Amino acid sequence: MPQPLLTLDFLDTAAPAAEATPSGEVRITAATRTGRQRKLYIESYGCQMNFSDSEIVSSILFDEGFDTTDDLANADLVLLNTCSIREKAEQTVRMRLKQINSHKKRKPGMLVGVLGCMAERLKSKFLEEEKIVDLVVGPDAYRDLPGLISQVDSGQKGVNVLLSREETYADITPVRLNSNGITAFISIMRGCDNMCSFCVVPFTRGRERSRDAHSIVQEAQALVAAGYKEVTLLGQNVDSYKWASADGLEFVNFAQLLERVALISPELRVRFSTSHPKDITDEVLHTMARHDNICKYIHLPAQSGNTRVLALMNRTYDRPWYEERVQAIRRILGEDCAISTDMISGFCSETEEEHQDTLSLIDFAQYDMGYNFFYSERPGTLAARKLADDIPLEVKKRRLQEVIDRQQVHARARYARMVGKVHQVLVEGPSKRSAEHLSGRNSQNQVVIFPKQNFKKGDYVNVLATSTTGAALLGEAV
Ligand code: SAH
Ligand code: SF4
Ligand code: F3S
Repeated sequence: MPQPLLTLDFLDTAAPAAEATPSGEVRITAATRTGRQRKLYIESYGCQMNFSDSEIVSSILFDEGFDTTDDLANADLVLLNTCSIREKAEQTVRMRLKQINSHKKRKPGMLVGVLGCMAERLKSKFLEEEKIVDLVVGPDAYRDLPGLISQVDSGQKGVNVLLSREETYADITPVRLNSNGITAFISIMRGCDNMCSFCVVPFTRGRERSRDAHSIVQEAQALVAAGYKEVTLLGQNVDSYKWASADGLEFVNFAQLLERVALISPELRVRFSTSHPKDITDEVLHTMARHDNICKYIHLPAQSGNTRVLALMNRTYDRPWYEERVQAIRRILGEDCAISTDMISGFCSETEEEHQDTLSLIDFAQYDMGYNFFYSERPGTLAARKLADDIPLEVKKRRLQEVIDRQQVHARARYARMVGKVHQVLVEGPSKRSAEHLSGRNSQNQVVIFPKQNFKKGDYVNVLATSTTGAALLGEAV
């Protein structure tokens, strides 16, 4: 009998703290009560980049006299920070707008704005399609929010969806309202220059640009000074980070940036996401090996295990290349380094044999975790223009289920092999299971739960893992 993957007692799952992957999650920005005149309510969908952007938006509007509220009924301004990655993500937002419309009937002065990737994709079409929307603001135009809001206050609609080649919001200190005070995200770059044929991100986020390395290090230092213990460096493709100083004398690549952040304090854990298999270098892997405080976890989305499909996806690597990168991780960082993936099932013209190749790649890599989806055609992408979305929905869903099932076998095995070992755990808070237990993560990003004793949030605790639920380790402090 297979063990249940997740028993109801242990709801602490390895939440996607360390990847830029959309999680289907929605976040409501917490309230500030500083007596400002107007109340802003923000709901964020999609990936970590969006969650991080909402902190920048809160910061910009705080300076404009807005406190945040977590109660929609109290809001003067409601912003939805949206995602376009799959059709379902967009449908969720449309449905939410309908509910917000009924609130607006009760509070006609309330302004409603759409931010993020859907704003960028649909532009002013949004205003025609969804009559309640007053503001449409793309991901590179948040500095313009105060101006656009005054425009709406004076009775017009406000739209700015200009993409930028420079904007990185480097000088804006995000207000970390959703943080546990221990772990934080730092955006190190924006946009994406890869043209994966299925993907809408290059259209919604624009060209890739890297943020000033000094501003990243300063932000991490400020977080350490404020008591934070872990930062995750975020980008769609962190391994292509590159920044040069204006005088051209200083050049920083991702491995060097990672090292600069790791050197801030041995007490600070450093994570990063996402790594593109074509760009992750041995230099990055050796940098990880040199620093104990760089976590041994790599999110390395494969998308498919078949070379022909990878070519159609325009991923620019083939299966042997991907396998070699996995072997390099194992060689340089050892078997314990965790690896996770994203897979797309039922991409245009994928055959049963090609789908089997994805399953065999999962066996090869023995991923700790997988974020798996069925293909959803996105308007305007290369695939939508050039390839037929010809795999029937039932087939896509069946293949996806097979991918998920295969992945679960490995996830469980990866947890099982950690039993009997001592893990350094950064405590993030009480376990959802009981107030007598604490929950945290090991370097591999696995959830570890153990009796509280006198430990508290933010402590590093050595925990001997004594058993596993398949989705968390249980143990005791040693
Ligand atoms: N920059 C990351 C991916 C960001 S999007 C990378 O290159 O790996 C997150 C994930 O969403 C992707 O890895 C992919 O698996 C999934 N995804 C993107 N577009 C999709 C689509 N059209 N249909 C289904 N899944 C998609
Ligand atoms: Fe999309 Fe590919 Fe860029 Fe990732 S690397 S954001 S999948 S285009
Ligand atoms: Fe992120 Fe979704 Fe945009 S995954 S980059 S919010 S399309």
